[in-house]
Amino acid sequence: MSAFRDGLFDGRTVFVAGGTSGINLGIARRFAELGAYVAVAGRNPEKARAAAESIGRGAEGFSCDVRDYEAVRGVLERIHSARGPLDVVVSGAAGNFLAPVAGLSSNGFRTVVDIDLNGTFNVFKGCYDLVRKPGASLIAITAGQAVNPMPFQAHACAAKAGVNQLVRVLAMEWGPEGIRVNGLSPGPIAGTEGMARLAPTREIADALASRIPLRRFGEISEVAESAVFLSTSSAAYITGTILDCEGGSQLGDSRPRL
Ligand code: COA
Ligand code: NAP
Repeated sequence: MSAFRDGLFDGRTVFVAGGTSGINLGIARRFAELGAYVAVAGRNPEKARAAAESIGRGAEGFSCDVRDYEAVRGVLERIHSARGPLDVVVSGAAGNFLAPVAGLSSNGFRTVVDIDLNGTFNVFKGCYDLVRKPGASLIAITAGQAVNPMPFQAHACAAKAGVNQLVRVLAMEWGPEGIRVNGLSPGPIAGTEGMARLAPTREIADALASRIPLRRFGEISEVAESAVFLSTSSAAYITGTILDCEGGSQLGDSRPRL
């Protein structure tokens, strides 16, 4: 059950980088349901088109690689010229896989850092002069790996730790202009590509869920509600924070033990 009323985002413009599948698509869909014009972007133009169509309500799909600043900037400029200042910008594009450092090439490490961290820089830097001031809400989708080291995740841990610090620095630099910058850190979310890669079997997924304080994976819709909250007036004094939407996962293994 959502706490947000219909029409809450009427007339607002929302851009979601990496919004063509999974959690980010769910975030985009929720903003559209609440009345916003929504633009989603990913590398694959056909996937972007299909995502926008699945959202409906006038949503549009764009194709760009977040590793390419000029491409990201081009999409943001198109949205801005058609719609005016952007109200919400979500940077959610990411790449991940399980790999021990011994089995990870320099290019493999660089690729994930490039998508997650440099991509977030490109999205936020690219939108800076195109967002509503005051009032814009910028959200980076981060992960527990940013703070909790995890084997076979050196690339994601390093990239997302950088994302969290980028969020904090931008909150300080852009706060005076009325731009709020926050991170949103999902826990394990059911039915996503990320979890298919990190918990590829039912056994692994069940074992993981049994350790989470809330004893289940999260839902895409639950992360979407958190993204909406961060962009409402109820969060007007919240900036530079990382909101964990993760059932308590980061507290550690919550199974009773001696
Ligand atoms: N283990 C070790 N290295 C891997 C790997 C794996 N499972 N998968 C990819 N790599 C390495 C590649 O070998 C390559 O390094 P090399 O040139 O030294 O061989 C490097 O990563 C780049 O791979 P490439 O396939 O060229 O990258 P890409 O830019 O086409 O795709 C990925 C990026 C690899 C992150 C790809 O998995 C992707 O597109 N992911 C998006 C979806 C996703 O990850 N969703 C979950 C989000 S949490
Ligand atoms: P997903 O479905 O794989 O979504 C990734 C999105 O990013 C897609 O739209 C993809 O589209 C796009 N993308 C990937 N590389 C890109 C690039 N270089 N340039 C532009 N777009 C790119 O992933 P997900 O599992 O839902 O995860 C979404 C976010 O949540 C990520 O930031 C992830 O780190 C975070 N997260 C997920 C979980 C989880 O449980 N799944 C947990 C914690 C954090 P294209 O392939 O067309 O480019």
